[in-house]
Amino acid sequence: MNISIFGLGYVGCVSLGCLARNGHQVVGVDVSETKVAQINAGLPTIIEKEIDTIIREEHAAGRISATTDYLSAIRGTAISIIAVGTPSGPNGHLNLDYIFNVAEKFGDALKEKEGFHIIALRSTVLPGTNEKFASIVAQHSGKKANEDFAVVSNPEFLREGTAVHDYHHPPLTLIGSAHTEAAEQVASLYRHLPAEVIITDLKVAELMKYVNNTFHALKVSFANEIGNICSSLSIDSHKVMEIFCMDKVLNISPYYFKPGFAYGGSCLPKDLKGLQTLAHDQYVRTPLIESIDVTNQLQITRAVSMIQATGKRNLGFMGLSFKAGTDDLRNSPAVTLIETLLGKGYTITIYDSNVSLSKLTGTNKEYIDRHIPHLSRLLTQDLQELAGVSEVLVVNNKETDYIDFLEQLESDHHVIDMVRLPEAIRQKKNYQGINW
Ligand SMILES: NC(=O)c1ccc[n+]([C@@H]2O[C@H](COP(=O)([O-])OP(=O)(O)OC[C@H]3O[C@@H](n4cnc5c(N)ncnc54)[C@H](O)[C@@H]3O)[C@@H](O)[C@H]2O)c1
Repeated sequence: MNISIFGLGYVGCVSLGCLARNGHQVVGVDVSETKVAQINAGLPTIIEKEIDTIIREEHAAGRISATTDYLSAIRGTAISIIAVGTPSGPNGHLNLDYIFNVAEKFGDALKEKEGFHIIALRSTVLPGTNEKFASIVAQHSGKKANEDFAVVSNPEFLREGTAVHDYHHPPLTLIGSAHTEAAEQVASLYRHLPAEVIITDLKVAELMKYVNNTFHALKVSFANEIGNICSSLSIDSHKVMEIFCMDKVLNISPYYFKPGFAYGGSCLPKDLKGLQTLAHDQYVRTPLIESIDVTNQLQITRAVSMIQATGKRNLGFMGLSFKAGTDDLRNSPAVTLIETLLGKGYTITIYDSNVSLSKLTGTNKEYIDRHIPHLSRLLTQDLQELAGVSEVLVVNNKETDYIDFLEQLESDHHVIDMVRLPEAIRQKKNYQGINW
């Protein structure tokens, strides 16, 4: 395939060499005449393992060249990859000037080209940039997005220092697109790599890089805070984190990674507090670990705001315990939520198939006596009755009987969902998920 790459920095130079290695005819475009001259002399524009040999050999084989001329590059190719820089501005906002400058020049040149053209945005950009890029190209070319050309998002995951290796071994290949054929064409460039190709919505693809890198930063800082606590106690931090990573069921796994309501129960809040106190007693600062509870409380505040925004006063809670399949009410975020709403004068009715007041004992009973002492007056044993007296149904646990009931419910109750109910319920009028 004939491919053009706009921006010959780290990402562009590696893509140029590696795509040529895969047999494609690739032309690089840059505003820097020095970089263009380097490529045309068979030299890389960056220092990176293996890249000098690749550029030299592919240049000698006649598969790579470079130019400052947009029109010739676009005319001669079917796919254009955009890999210009997207640095942070002085206030931390992303500077998209280079991207939009490329879009304008690209549109001007595309006006002169016949036939469908595919543009793949490889630079790291915030959600919505792809659509804006396409609208600028459309404005400048007089052509229509997704008819005469398509812009797909194809974020780059490589790391400097191991860029060529990472190019050949990506964790996955991600393509966001509103145009199936364009997505498939871009996917075909990477299908030979040992990684899954995922084609998804544009904005999902655009956000992924930010989510990934934020999580990577979180991992580093979490490991460092744990390490600092360990070293204050003369415990081997590397042994701790090594064993931590061996748990592929709960630790290094998709578990706990589903957006939803606050965590609770008898273990997470208690043990988090325990570790925090231990660090504090050792004079070790752990702002990251301390902020976990702050975020958790904010999730409860968010639920309160969503309920307030319905303007309704009669609330029905489906599920009171801290998760499905248990009657444990200790530190259940639903209890805190209900306590807050009772304080604001809401009328509340609760149904929980696992909670029977007569069976509550020990610390569980003590907890609820302390927080909602008149719980017995709020509980109902009948979902029909719950719906009958409530204008808003707040779903806290994913129990099968709640799901069956809501699927069959024909009224227009407001439903506030903390647990990601099935699609059929999510499509109903007046439905709202806590963070989807
Ligand atoms: N460097 C990395 O490790 C890495 C990894 C993944 C993603 N990314 C992302 O990829 C993008 C590119 O990063 P990079 O490190 O390769 O950037 P870079 O600064 O090394 O290279 C950008 C190139 O774009 C050129 N350029 C600027 N305006 C241009 C224009 N109008 N037309 C043509 N060329 C133009 C510049 O001259 C420069 O050569 C960024 O969004 C970055 O966040 C970078």
